[in-house]
Amino acid sequence: MVSARVRIIGWMLGVLALAVVTVVFLTWQVLSARSDAAADTELTHEANKFRAFAGSSSAAAFDRPEALLDLWLQNNLPDNSEAFFTIVDGQPYHRSQNSPPARLDTDAAFVRRLAGATDPQYGWVDSTAGKVRYGVIPVRIGTQPVRAQLVVLEFRDVLAQPLVAATRALAIIGAITLAMAAGACWLVTGRVLAPIRQLRTTADQISESDLRRRIDVVGNDDVAQLARTFNTMLDRLEVAFVAQREFVDNAGHELRTPITVIRGHLELMGDDPRDRAETTALVIDELARMNRIVDDLLVLAKSERPDFLEPEEVNLTELVMEVVAKARPLADRTWRIDETADATIIADGQRLTQALMQLVSNAVRHTVTGDRIALGSRVDHVGRVLLWVADTGPGVSDEDRERIFERFARGNDQVRTEGAGLGLAIVRSIARAHGGDVRLASGGRGARFELELPHRPATDDDLADELIAEEVDR
Ligand SMILES: Nc1ncnc2c1ncn2[C@@H]1O[C@H](COP(=O)(O)OP(=O)(O)OP(=O)(O)O)[C@@H](O)[C@H]1O
Ligand SMILES: [Mg+2]
Repeated sequence: MVSARVRIIGWMLGVLALAVVTVVFLTWQVLSARSDAAADTELTHEANKFRAFAGSSSAAAFDRPEALLDLWLQNNLPDNSEAFFTIVDGQPYHRSQNSPPARLDTDAAFVRRLAGATDPQYGWVDSTAGKVRYGVIPVRIGTQPVRAQLVVLEFRDVLAQPLVAATRALAIIGAITLAMAAGACWLVTGRVLAPIRQLRTTADQISESDLRRRIDVVGNDDVAQLARTFNTMLDRLEVAFVAQREFVDNAGHELRTPITVIRGHLELMGDDPRDRAETTALVIDELARMNRIVDDLLVLAKSERPDFLEPEEVNLTELVMEVVAKARPLADRTWRIDETADATIIADGQRLTQALMQLVSNAVRHTVTGDRIALGSRVDHVGRVLLWVADTGPGVSDEDRERIFERFARGNDQVRTEGAGLGLAIVRSIARAHGGDVRLASGGRGARFELELPHRPATDDDLADELIAEEVDR
């Protein structure tokens, strides 16, 4: 989680830093261009002033340029960022009375270069005080050849100093803002991610054997919603896990009983052949019972899998007839078919037979010779398929109505049967796998169990598929 936090802050600071750097850079560019323009303006201003002075009537009296330049220097005080000096006969002559940021009249090469100027010239020159904008104005008296120049220097970097200070302040403010944003982001991400961290810690602590832990839900935001969803998922997992554990406990318990019986008899078995034959018969009987329980458990386990059903076309009349034919030899009862629907549906015929046979075996178990057991099928007015097994036995008591469908649940009212209580659970699994259910449709005397399935009539397409499948089999 720390890495997520660092990543978020890293991204945010990266974007902010880019913005700050861009702003500072652009500001600097704009201010720097303004400084250049300001240097130009100052230079032009001084040059115009000098031209005006040189053209005035008081200047007309001079016949030597030195005197004219000296007078101008005396009357014109340069700003802090300016300096003037004069050149006469190629040599630096006089300079303005201020102390300039750098001396350029002592730069012999620079002076030599300007001394040749017979026309006004402008340019940039480097100095110890940074870039300097200079202008050189030659002075001509009457028709004399040019032998003197006025040099005006504008120290651009000195002019730009307040702008540099402003840019520096901007950069410092930007850096402080970045630091504050980083701090705020650290705190906010910490608070936002705290529930997620708790989520992870809790998830880490939940082991398969202890699903009771839950996450404290605070507030109503997305993270709280996530925690709530997580808790709901844990609720479901816990229920499923407890159910599974109970199931395994019950299965173990059911299987232990026949094992104990078999072991007890084998330990006590003597040498008498009659005794041995009796014990063998009993052991085989108990083993068959265990076998049935294991088979039932396997069916229940498989019923959770998607390939539990193998759907095919099932004719309801044929299905009921077949089950009655199989059931009749089981016991001496009055077997009846109430009615049958002449409909063909898509379902797993073998599983439906298995479910009906479980109901039949229950009915046989709860009836005596002479009792009636009736089977039937119908498509009702809303299009549901009903399959039922009804008997004239004692029926199911009210408190058992729902319970008997659970795994390993047996009725309370009766003498202990051989069954493990898995029959109705299997019937329910098969019904639900078909998208339907099973219910006890009777009250009081007589039991009537109904399978209720959604009606999926076989279409012509299904018939065609079946024919193609048969063709391929051949
Ligand atoms: N036709 C019926 N008449 C009366 N009670 C019934 C009938 N069918 C089921 N029951 C009750 O429902 C209980 C659960 O039936 P279920 O078929 O699940 O288990 P079982 O028959 O006892 O054992 P198993 O089917 O595993 O051999 C039975 O023990 C019985 O009490
Ligand atoms: Mg049963």
